[in-house]
Amino acid sequence: MAEENKMEKIVSLAKRRGFIFPGSEIYGGLSGIYDYGPLGVEFKNNVKQSWREEMFRRKDDIFELDSSILMQRQVWEASGHTSAGFTDPLRECKKCHHRYRADHLEEEGVEKCPNCGGELTEPKKFNLLVETHLGPVKDDSSLTYLRGETTQGIYVNYKNVKIAMAAEIPFGIGQIGKAFRNEITPSHFTYRMREFEQMEQQYFVKPAEADIFFTYWKNERIRWYTDLGVKKERLRFRPHAKDELAHYAKGAEDIEYEFPFGWHEVEGIHNRGDWDLSRHSKFSGEDLSEVDGKTGEKFYPYIIETSAGADRAALMFLADAYSEDKDNKRVVLKLHPKLAPYKAAVFPLLRNRPELVKKARVIFTDLKKTGLNVAWDDRGNIGKRYYAQDEIGTPWCVTVDHQTLEDDTVTVRDRDTMKQERVAAAELGLYFNSKLNV
Ligand code: GAP
Repeated sequence: MAEENKMEKIVSLAKRRGFIFPGSEIYGGLSGIYDYGPLGVEFKNNVKQSWREEMFRRKDDIFELDSSILMQRQVWEASGHTSAGFTDPLRECKKCHHRYRADHLEEEGVEKCPNCGGELTEPKKFNLLVETHLGPVKDDSSLTYLRGETTQGIYVNYKNVKIAMAAEIPFGIGQIGKAFRNEITPSHFTYRMREFEQMEQQYFVKPAEADIFFTYWKNERIRWYTDLGVKKERLRFRPHAKDELAHYAKGAEDIEYEFPFGWHEVEGIHNRGDWDLSRHSKFSGEDLSEVDGKTGEKFYPYIIETSAGADRAALMFLADAYSEDKDNKRVVLKLHPKLAPYKAAVFPLLRNRPELVKKARVIFTDLKKTGLNVAWDDRGNIGKRYYAQDEIGTPWCVTVDHQTLEDDTVTVRDRDTMKQERVAAAELGLYFNSKLNV
């Protein structure tokens, strides 16, 4: 399968099967904005839930937060986002006024406007913060920003969480939430959007321990992706060169994935040094420093940040899972069962046999009561139903047939192997849960 075609196929499947729709589509769309449909919501929630389990359930020293999107404007001044730090280099065509990321043009070796061949302006710094106004008066005093990263809400609440949870460093705070960036060129479907979700975790450490925790978090984070089935050979670390480090970073490495459109970042691991807590102390007047218990010396904790994108991770899981099984003429989304929107689908073998439909309905309802998200399908023939479930990644299909009426067993068909086995209907909840929790 040609890799560029693969992206087109994923975009088409995502829309057709209710994963992802273009934003404001009936008005012609809105660049860099996408909406999640019924299956997409389930799928992305599973991605986020898996991240939450990893951070807050598997570990006991990381606390969850849900801070607001809107904050005082000074937060973004202290963080460096209103100044040169949060900008991308922009070049504009003097003729057709199309705008481009100068670094992207350079990577592609392009000198003239790709749209009309016109002359381009020199690169200038373009700030990515999305502005808004709060309150009834729209003037400079009411100006603030939609958050450009979720992280800043964590620093603003550092002291609150530390006191409320009696936390001692090293400890972490994490959260999932929306972030907004006025990207010059949104691209590659949901890879680069203007409204997106981040899953960020900040680990506060003594400066001398920053390198140890940086390595620890690199390993932890790449394991999360491979545990969820991402192909190892499609993942790699890429350290940032000194001249590409973000304004806050002392060191950074990206986790990159080989998308159909090339190797690109899915997550950043950053050593943010003492930039954030020292700056917020200075700008807010609230002292966010710590005192070393042994030496009595005051210091600002260093921060090791793991910053992942929920949408970007979801796109990566889709791209990694998409496969075409030519022998069996089917498209299969080989999603990890934990991420699949439906864990199972239940079918009556024949839709015109009321006793089968009735029995299948009972099994379907009982299975839903176990907390699993289960689909019902009685359209077309069994082959078509398998095809439809494979395409959305449903790991198991349950068929209720004549034997079910006699011995209360059903067939369970595995998405990847296509093998079938007979399972007692009453055991289905346990059967799926034990497979999900390996
Ligand atoms: N707090 C640090 C930070 O925000 P970043 O490298 O700018 O660092 C972190 O972003 C992650 O957020 C990226 O690895 C990506 O997964 C996601 N992300 C950033 N910009 C995005 C965009 N425009 N669209 C979708 N996801 C984005």
